[in-house]
Amino acid sequence: MILLQIEANFIPLITLSNKASLLPMKNNYLSKFTFKRYLVALTLGICFSLACPLTVSANTIVIYGATGNIGSKIVTEALDRGHKVIGVSRSPETLKINHRNFSAAKGDVSDLQSMLDVIKGADTVIMSVRGSGPNNYPEESLDYVASKVFIQAARKIGQDAPRVIHLGGGSTLYSKGVLALDARPSTEGTAQHGLVWGHWLALQNYRATTAVKWTVVSPSGGYDAEGPRTGQYRQGWDEVLVDESGKSKGISHRDMAVAIIDEIEKPKALKRRMTIGY
Ligand SMILES: NC(=O)c1ccc[n+]([C@@H]2O[C@H](COP(=O)([O-])OP(=O)(O)OC[C@H]3O[C@@H](n4cnc5c(N)ncnc54)[C@H](OP(=O)(O)O)[C@@H]3O)[C@@H](O)[C@H]2O)c1
Repeated sequence: MILLQIEANFIPLITLSNKASLLPMKNNYLSKFTFKRYLVALTLGICFSLACPLTVSANTIVIYGATGNIGSKIVTEALDRGHKVIGVSRSPETLKINHRNFSAAKGDVSDLQSMLDVIKGADTVIMSVRGSGPNNYPEESLDYVASKVFIQAARKIGQDAPRVIHLGGGSTLYSKGVLALDARPSTEGTAQHGLVWGHWLALQNYRATTAVKWTVVSPSGGYDAEGPRTGQYRQGWDEVLVDESGKSKGISHRDMAVAIIDEIEKPKALKRRMTIGY
């Protein structure tokens, strides 16, 4: 249909370009048939060049935490945008997603061999996991453990290792140079303390590597679990994003998912931490 329409409107269309150079062959010595073939080829070329910048090649994305609050939204966003998703869970039978580009895999982020089996061949791995250790030590937090295991796995795989995008904590951001973890100290030995400092350790762990393709994404302000997908957000680096009154407005899980898939499709934060907020 597009072809027919473009053929009918061919003259006005190509006047946008250089009509003289595009149409030299229409002059008498070419048959009507050849000219039509020329038009079709040219039309295809125009369509291809118009379509190309909009085309994003599909990625294979492994999502740890696919059953979780944020991970499940990332699964939906990735599938809606045409990517292939492998959702990972310790109980993959609970992932009842019926989509031709989705498959479920059993996996444990704390197990190197399990991770190697799951992530091999993937383009990107999302870490959206949560867990504390028996003593609530930051070193026991699942985020820190997952970062260690991923780095080991990536080193083993080598050149072809996927990139990791790891969901980080908002309290590892700075506000006018002051680290939120310092400004709002939590009580050692509590789950909260272990989790937030575990995020800090995971971030430092990635920062200490040069061979691994990593990004940590921290929200500026709280998450809104049921908030809408607006597709609008701001992106920053280590400083928390605030509005005119100095307050951070947070981000919905769905818009965090949008930002993460945007980052996969058009990387801006390779080997660094970024923040997302309204
Ligand atoms: N939610 C928020 O408001 C918020 C705010 C700031 C930062 N974050 C960060 O965002 C991340 C995700 O948060 P969330 O609220 O979406 O978490 P969540 O709903 O509690 O989900 C946690 C996920 O971790 C997975 N998991 C736990 N142990 C695992 C293991 N050993 N191996 C593999 N997967 C494991 C679980 O999968 P299975 O049980 O299926 O295996 C589950 O899907 C966390 O790092 C969190 O700190 C969240």
